[in-house]
Amino acid sequence: MAKPLLRVLNGESVWPPPIWLMRQAGRYLPEYRAIRAKAGSFLKLATTPELAAEITLQPVRRFGFDAAILFSDILIVPWALGHGLTFRDGEGPVMPPLRTAADLHALDSARLPAAAAPVYETVRRVSQALRSNHQSTTLIGFAGAPFTVACYMVEGGGSKDFAEVRRLAYTNPTLLAGLISLLTEATVTYLAAQIEAGAETVMLFDSWAGILPPSLFRTYVIQPTRQVITALAARLPACKTIAFPRLSGLMLGEYTATTGAACVGLDTSTDPHAACRLIPPSIALQGNLDPLALAAGGSALQSQTSAILDAMTNRLFIFNLGHGVVPETPPEHVARLVELVRAA
Ligand code: CP3
Repeated sequence: MAKPLLRVLNGESVWPPPIWLMRQAGRYLPEYRAIRAKAGSFLKLATTPELAAEITLQPVRRFGFDAAILFSDILIVPWALGHGLTFRDGEGPVMPPLRTAADLHALDSARLPAAAAPVYETVRRVSQALRSNHQSTTLIGFAGAPFTVACYMVEGGGSKDFAEVRRLAYTNPTLLAGLISLLTEATVTYLAAQIEAGAETVMLFDSWAGILPPSLFRTYVIQPTRQVITALAARLPACKTIAFPRLSGLMLGEYTATTGAACVGLDTSTDPHAACRLIPPSIALQGNLDPLALAAGGSALQSQTSAILDAMTNRLFIFNLGHGVVPETPPEHVARLVELVRAA
């Protein structure tokens, strides 16, 4: 198996480590902004395979990353289940808040295959393009983890603290558990179809995992993640999962031991040395440069990058950010980062 990122996921250490970045396609790239301006809306981009495949490949061409991540969004699953979704400029996603049993019952899993078909077609196109032109680049499929997707659905969009989903966990746990269970099943179907279309590994984004107390973290973060990973492994044994439980702090050890993830993404706040102690060496780590250090560039970029590389020497490791690329990032800083990591 020649692809460096897949070698790491399969337990072989590779140094210098493979590198890709969360949100590596997007507004910091002029070539993305040009296509985005023509298409008019983000949803149009994400559901037009020709455009989504092109955007997926842009950062791979420009920087030679070790992975291409499907260009889509974690909120495509609720949208495909029939939950309305718009992206307002400067405001982020907006959807109707899901607060009642009637709202839950309105979701329709039968819509998923047809609604998500453009995403699978994008995966097929990217997979083919990588086979022709970028043979060492791994194609990563993804979904939001059930809890984080539920956060946006219950809130009705973004939030600083997602108080509504936490309120629901206490006042109507039956409703929240029902939503998480439906999303868990949809996520398995959605990721399995991406793998069948050519995704070589999948990543679960749990951006808001860290807002729950431990008992609820076990119920709504660890258990559904374990179910998704176990079901995928049963259907598609070769496929490994990267899981990113952002801000989960000391729960990271239990999360790793229980979920079955082959690789755990570390957020910016996690000390890489502490993560190495908490997580067994058979599990790969991914992360965790501060996206703002990348935006700043210069000596900040250099020193933050070498601290991470030093901590991860001798580990199964994939270099990444601790969260997504921010739009103000100069593309030259990304090229510099790739150079620094490849010189390790
Ligand atoms: O990483 C990649 O390059 C692949 C594409 C990708 C997007 N979103 C594209 C996108 C991925 C993996 C995501 C994941 C995602 N989406 C997460 C999890 C990771 C994280 O950042 O915590 C979350 C929480 C979302 C939900 C979401 N989508 C928000 C909150 C927003 C608005 C904020 C923003 O950055 O604009 C989006 C929109 C979005 N998703 C854009 C992109 C490129 C910007 C769309 C545009 O206006 O062009």
